[in-house]
Amino acid sequence: MENQVRAGITIDYTGMMSSSQNPQGFEKEELLELQNVLDQAQVTLKTRRAAGEIDFSMLLTSVKTELVEIIEYANAVAPKFENFVVLGIGGSALGPLAVHQALNHYYYNDLSPEKRGHRPRFYVLDNIDPVRFNELLQMLDPLKTLFNVISKSGNTSETMAQFLIVRDTLRRVCGEHYAEHIVVTTDKEKGNLLPIALKEGFRRFVIPAGIGGRFSELTPVGLLAAAICGIDVEKLMDGALGMDQWIRETQGVFSNPAQLRAALAHLSWQKGKNISVFMPYADGLKTMADWYAQLWAESLGKRHDRHGRVVNVGQTPVKALGVTDQHSQVQLYAEGPDDKVITFVSVVKFKETVEIPIDIDLPEDIQFLGGRTLEELLAAEQKATEYALTLAGRQHQKIILPILDAYTVGQLLLLLEWETAYMGELLNINAFDQPGVEEGKNGTYALMGRKGYEARKQDIEEYGKIRYSLGKVITN
Ligand code: PA5
Repeated sequence: MENQVRAGITIDYTGMMSSSQNPQGFEKEELLELQNVLDQAQVTLKTRRAAGEIDFSMLLTSVKTELVEIIEYANAVAPKFENFVVLGIGGSALGPLAVHQALNHYYYNDLSPEKRGHRPRFYVLDNIDPVRFNELLQMLDPLKTLFNVISKSGNTSETMAQFLIVRDTLRRVCGEHYAEHIVVTTDKEKGNLLPIALKEGFRRFVIPAGIGGRFSELTPVGLLAAAICGIDVEKLMDGALGMDQWIRETQGVFSNPAQLRAALAHLSWQKGKNISVFMPYADGLKTMADWYAQLWAESLGKRHDRHGRVVNVGQTPVKALGVTDQHSQVQLYAEGPDDKVITFVSVVKFKETVEIPIDIDLPEDIQFLGGRTLEELLAAEQKATEYALTLAGRQHQKIILPILDAYTVGQLLLLLEWETAYMGELLNINAFDQPGVEEGKNGTYALMGRKGYEARKQDIEEYGKIRYSLGKVITN
């Protein structure tokens, strides 16, 4: 099977295809049979893009212009603050975290200011666990901290609650200068954060209309955090644009990487593979797996298709890390239910190399490690896992990054976003909404006493009257 090679990223899908070792794999013809649907999907996606519905791709070019403003602001504030804290959840948190962890020093926050290039430490507060929240705030000096409140809707309870607490603290500690410690990233016209930002004079960046959180990493949502923490955002955008162009301009399942990955995912879904495992072999990509999980789950897990029929579709994403999860989950992947398809992500050349010392006095069984490197060991472990899964008749594929840098990370983000969009088309669902999440958000508003949600509150309380529990019976 020929591998796809273009500008950095390679997709090796050998482990998905039929061979003497893997007779259960797909035949080329099965993929070709999807070509008509994929061509139709390409036309639909093009139309939706032109209509402003697939902004993650369309906006790449316009954001490039805004990039100058982002970089200027980032360079101006970076030396002034010791800490930079993102307040946001879902797409507003996972993208910034994933890119930071992929591209900055693994222990970035522990480095000296010189080694961080005089850039602030980076924190993301997404969850509202009061212990974590307070412990972080107690650790940071508000006078030396910049908070980036990110919310597309400007309504999300978690983010708004955090914002209100932080704003209160800043007002008390920084007095009339408190607004200089807050930068807001939100919609241009809608939401409750916008009027507050305008009234109180917070610096503001815009999340373009029509873009959901999980597709917003390459907008000011992710670019601002990346630029402040010293990431080469221009290179990140170059990689994204390169991948975007490749996907938009190429036809044919064996040439277009998003069509290929979506077609493989769709075939596997049809054959009962309900679980999609994303398993990078690089610690820097660990949170990329979290970002991917949200993208795949929230975009594709849908009750209704486009005709309103109940379909209940979507593969469950599972995040794993090689080699760590070889010693935890791979047993299940190899011998448990055959309901998973695994994507390995591997890096060919790491930015560090670590040699294992030779010691001829060691027992022979560990001597073989001497003189080899940790990168070699990691690559061997990945290959061996691939082999073991093939022997077990389990399907897998691999995204190969020649190097983990801003360019390839930009490529990876766009590849995964486009394949999700294609998969949405193949499943005939809308990949760009999230009615299931909205339901939960509305429930929270109701329970917390937001005006206009009284009926829903009553409904929820009614529903909660009968409970089954062990240990104590709850009666409301
Ligand atoms: O992908 C999405 O749309 C969601 O995960 C949102 O990012 C998340 O719910 C936060 O929403 P908001 O940015 O409106 O605060």
